[in-house]
Amino acid sequence: MSQVTQAPLGHPPGSLVATQPVSLTINGQTHSLQIAPWTTLLDALREYLDLTGTKKGCDHGQCGACTVLVDGKRINACLSLAVMHEDSDITTIEGLGTAEKLHPLQQAFIDHDAFQCGYCTPGQICSAQGLINEGKAKTEADVRELMSGNVCRCGAYVGILNAVMEVVGKELKIEN
Ligand code: FES
Ligand code: FES
Repeated sequence: MSQVTQAPLGHPPGSLVATQPVSLTINGQTHSLQIAPWTTLLDALREYLDLTGTKKGCDHGQCGACTVLVDGKRINACLSLAVMHEDSDITTIEGLGTAEKLHPLQQAFIDHDAFQCGYCTPGQICSAQGLINEGKAKTEADVRELMSGNVCRCGAYVGILNAVMEVVGKELKIEN
């Protein structure tokens, strides 16, 4: 009986698939990849670059787990092709803070108990940073509305809202 050998997830067998070189700037570092043109940014991050902080939930733009920042704006990495981002400045959760020096949102999520399993958390934090960059969120209602695309199966929404509001509040004070 013949056996079909599967390529590892995200790594199509090179002999069967046309690939192309792509250069991506992620968290300030440039990476050169040889990938199939239909590789999503999410798969490029997770399967080719081992940047697994960005999570795959639905893979269909429905959950926000894959949120990253592209030129400061949040996008769902599962809905975008890596080849579209050669000239972009991409930031993932790995680029927002370090274990030694947490990003203010990371610290606020800890302080406000804003996660349980943590699977949605990188996307929530990247989305919150994008929200702050946009400068549109002034109230709790704004944050709820503008982060409604980031789903938390654990229902940690109260903590998430409080954490984001703490950092948004500080940003607003700095502006005034
Ligand atoms: S994995 Fe991208 S939105 Fe769910
Ligand atoms: S903390 Fe578990 S999905 Fe949000």
